[in-house]
Amino acid sequence: MPSVKYFGALLFAGAVAHNACAQQFPPEQVKRGAAIYSANCVTCHGENMKNPPWAIDLATFPRDERARFIDSVTNGVRNMPPWGDVIKPDGIEALWAYLVAGEK
Ligand code: HEC
Repeated sequence: MPSVKYFGALLFAGAVAHNACAQQFPPEQVKRGAAIYSANCVTCHGENMKNPPWAIDLATFPRDERARFIDSVTNGVRNMPPWGDVIKPDGIEALWAYLVAGEK
């Protein structure tokens, strides 16, 4: 039943939003985010989100602004190009997991 599956996805999304403070992400999601980060973001935002060569320091990005992160990364913001064509939504979720819960 597809509708049940969809509902499950909604529940999962809700759970992730609720857990943002508890910072609970599946380790494999964080790992995937780290890989996507090294492939696409390192050049501007720095190794392990440290010492960014010229873009903003993501280590200081507010941990309760998931929606803003998803929007900025998907659609771009000022000097940052949009990533929505390059990285799928679940990849951008993985980046968020990495930002919140990954090793810095
Ligand atoms: C070409 C260099 C470049 C790359 C590559 C890049 N960014 Fe950025 N990013 C920027 C710049 C510059 C800013 C600051 C934008 C501004 O405020 O003018 C920024 C800002 C951001 C912000 C803050 C947005 C906000 O709402 O304040 C986030 C989050 C972000 N980048 C995530 C990422 C992620 C994740 C990747 C990899 C998929 C990435 N960036 C790759 C240059 C880059």
